[in-house]
Amino acid sequence: MEDPSRLDIQHRIWLLSLEGLIPPEIETEVSRHMEQTKGGAILDVGCGSAIWSAQMAEKFPSAQVVAVDITEPSQRSFPSNFSFKSHNLANGLPSEFEAGFDIIHCRAVLQHVPDPQILVDSMAKCLKPGGFLFLVDVEVDSTFDENRKRLEPFIYDPALSVETNLENSRGLSWTSGWLHMLGLSTRSSKYKAPPSMIQQSESLNELMAKVCWFPIGWEDKALEHGRELGELSAEVVEGLFKLSRDSFKKVEGVPSEIKDALIERGRQEFRERNAYLSGKNEVIVIVEMGGKNQISFWIAEERRVT
Ligand SMILES: C[S@@+](CC[C@H](N)C(=O)[O-])C[C@H]1O[C@@H](n2cnc3c(N)ncnc32)[C@H](O)[C@@H]1O
Repeated sequence: MEDPSRLDIQHRIWLLSLEGLIPPEIETEVSRHMEQTKGGAILDVGCGSAIWSAQMAEKFPSAQVVAVDITEPSQRSFPSNFSFKSHNLANGLPSEFEAGFDIIHCRAVLQHVPDPQILVDSMAKCLKPGGFLFLVDVEVDSTFDENRKRLEPFIYDPALSVETNLENSRGLSWTSGWLHMLGLSTRSSKYKAPPSMIQQSESLNELMAKVCWFPIGWEDKALEHGRELGELSAEVVEGLFKLSRDSFKKVEGVPSEIKDALIERGRQEFRERNAYLSGKNEVIVIVEMGGKNQISFWIAEERRVT
């Protein structure tokens, strides 16, 4: 089970990075849509501690907010327009949810289900026409240096001895290697980054995408909340290092000396170097036929609007 306090810290990181529960780039569109529906319905898929859904229920008091997870959230009091449904997402959402929601939010969940495309397609079916789907995920393949350049991960080569693997590691990142193995231990082999899953879906079009950068344990003065983001990200990463010894047991074919080295050297490296984690946030909307690309923009370090 996920640690609710870590999920709440992660929520704060997302709030600071995306500048709100709904990114400001899309806020006007979403608010206009919610006003037109005179209430509306919001769904949080794999809600965890349900902090996002509880705050959305407060932000949109006339909307009905439904949160779904396999585990019921604890430690929180919920507004009266909030309800929880226990459900296993492995085969998608319950059929009674179809065409029922104006906003669907799915954050840090796709990496945990056996076939994420099934869940993406099912969420698409549960949106009302013109509704918004928010997919939020962190890239768990590598970390990035201060210039946001990928730090190539150390990856175990089974054709070589353990000693040769360790000797050949010069120039490679142990923190990236650790993160890569964490991805292998938690993600389904069917996982793809959200943009590919959207492309494969028949009805979803991308409205906006945003890349976020999380400095791990250092103050990034270029970011508005660089210091707080650095502190919170380090807390999350330290927590994940603690969990990883158990998670790594699931990875077969990698000797325990290599797993130990990834944890110990990865932790050491992240404490000594200024590195980033990168988060990918996708906001997708279903638009009427012919309306494709009506509103379409991509936001990264450099802003481009078409
Ligand atoms: C990393 S947490 C993210 C929680 C929340 N979305 C957030 O951002 O704070 C992943 C959540 O997915 C849920 N989950 C994973 N597999 C699931 C499944 N098969 N069915 C339902 N929920 C699942 C877990 O219980 C957990 O709450």
